[in-house]
Amino acid sequence: MIRLIATFIAIVGFSMSAYAAGDAEPNKQLVWPFDGVTGYVDQQSAQRGFQVYNQVCAGCHSLKRVSYRNLVEIGFSEAEAKAIAAEATVIDGPNDEGEMFERAGRLSDRFVAPFANEQAARASNNGALPPDLSLMIKARPDGANYLYSLLTGYSDAPAGFKVGEGLHYNPYFPGKQIAMAAPLSDDLIEYQDGTQASADQMAKDVAIFLQWASEPEMQHRKNMGIKVLIYLAIFTIFFYIAKNITWRDVK
Ligand code: HEC
Repeated sequence: MIRLIATFIAIVGFSMSAYAAGDAEPNKQLVWPFDGVTGYVDQQSAQRGFQVYNQVCAGCHSLKRVSYRNLVEIGFSEAEAKAIAAEATVIDGPNDEGEMFERAGRLSDRFVAPFANEQAARASNNGALPPDLSLMIKARPDGANYLYSLLTGYSDAPAGFKVGEGLHYNPYFPGKQIAMAAPLSDDLIEYQDGTQASADQMAKDVAIFLQWASEPEMQHRKNMGIKVLIYLAIFTIFFYIAKNITWRDVK
């Protein structure tokens, strides 16, 4: 009985929170390379997305579940991943004297967070906490479309809408105002592969990169699914033929 009541409360609570978020604009809908059963990681785009994360978002957002060595999974060579890791400063230790010390990042390190702790992160962001982005695409419904919409959705507030102190109007965020200022603008960075870094392009690329980060096994899972389907199809034919042969004399 108690379970039943708890379930009921959970369902009501969930639908109410969904309702509370209901004032946000519906997400823009894009076609993504990772969509569907044949979905794959667009490595070129994911590498650009890494560049966006690294040069823009990493100033405020951690990506704690990803290690530098994981970067080879989106097509960086091991040497490139090593060089990227080495640019980071890792606090390690304690050493023999009991002191913590700094060293260059290695492949086995997780991505280094921009702030030492939550308090430092909040202090630098008007009291708001930039969340870790490792699982962001999975944590929000329709995650990639939401992220893309959020990043490209900043605009002036309509007349009569009062934007709070330190907040920015964004109709895709629940409540329509967010503590993060628009992080992207055209040509903010220079892409290594020469692609024009429009705000739109960067938003797509970083969504593809973060989709991979939140589900690195996605492509393997989908490839496996297709193999299983092919296997089942072949066996269906095989068994059909076997059945016909077995029963051919019984009419
Ligand atoms: C100057 C700091 C700063 C930068 C740079 C920045 N963000 Fe944020 N971000 C924040 C803060 C602060 C919040 C919390 C906003 C809030 O709770 O109102 C946030 C929130 C978010 C959220 C959560 C939205 C939600 O639904 O809760 C996402 C997703 C996000 N940022 C993505 C990005 C991406 C992607 C980039 C890089 C393109 C980026 N941010 C760059 C400070 C930053």
